[in-house]
Amino acid sequence: MHILKAQDLKDIYKDILKRASYFKSNKDHPIIPKSCALFFEEPSTRTRLSFEKACRNLSLETFYIQGSNSSTTKGETLFDTFLAFKKMGIDAVIFRTPEIIFEDYFKDIDIGIINAGDGTHEHPSQGLLDVFTLLEKTNTLQDKNILYVGDIYHSRVFRSGSLFFKLEGANVGICTYPSLVPKDYPLMDNIFTSLDEALDWADHVIALRIQKERHKDNFNLDSYFYIYGITKERYQKIKGFLMHPGPVNRNIDIDQDVMYREKSLILNQIENGVFVRMAMLEYIILG
Ligand code: CP
Repeated sequence: MHILKAQDLKDIYKDILKRASYFKSNKDHPIIPKSCALFFEEPSTRTRLSFEKACRNLSLETFYIQGSNSSTTKGETLFDTFLAFKKMGIDAVIFRTPEIIFEDYFKDIDIGIINAGDGTHEHPSQGLLDVFTLLEKTNTLQDKNILYVGDIYHSRVFRSGSLFFKLEGANVGICTYPSLVPKDYPLMDNIFTSLDEALDWADHVIALRIQKERHKDNFNLDSYFYIYGITKERYQKIKGFLMHPGPVNRNIDIDQDVMYREKSLILNQIENGVFVRMAMLEYIILG
């Protein structure tokens, strides 16, 4: 079983959300006598640690391999790396890579695989935990307007989360510079360049980080805050909740004084990541 993109969960994600709720409210977690490797070639704090915590909560034997210390630096492919994991008795792999992974890439490896972020492509566990977090507060997202603000072009969180929000009956809007609008992405109901207009439309807002490391040109972060940042004034205008997948650049993405105020679900997202990832792990290992 492989979860490489949000689409891979479209028929099953509601069961995973139910199971995540169960894990959040019950401490009698199943004991799964299997093993899991975490293989990260890009930096991560919350995804890596919450997957590791999720593994340990399920009693999985857990191994962390840092990509920059692995044999991929000598030219080995991810396919051959994960095949080696399989031969060493590993049952599941969680990976993050700067490359975009095409859907058939791992099809001949009989091992559970979860994509924890591939380049600018997909980050299904983050998309799912964002939906879980908002549903926990609102119960329904039917006909609600969800606004993603910021570096949409490079956002794997947007590409995964927007599908789950659409499946829940929500409308998805984006707000960014014209140059950061994805050219070929069909799941956008509204495209805004003015954040103040976008906030009039939105019920809930997901701010995204400007991914400086993926921009070829220097990016002017000072002007960004005034154009697309969640300032104190804009925070007041948000009708529902504010989210951010993290990591947050304070006073660039969001004014630090409102980051953890009452409308913010940023800490709820981090907390829920463990439970959603436990449910995903159980699904790929036990089916
Ligand atoms: N949201 C997210 O992927 O955060 P990390 O990069 O810290 O894992």
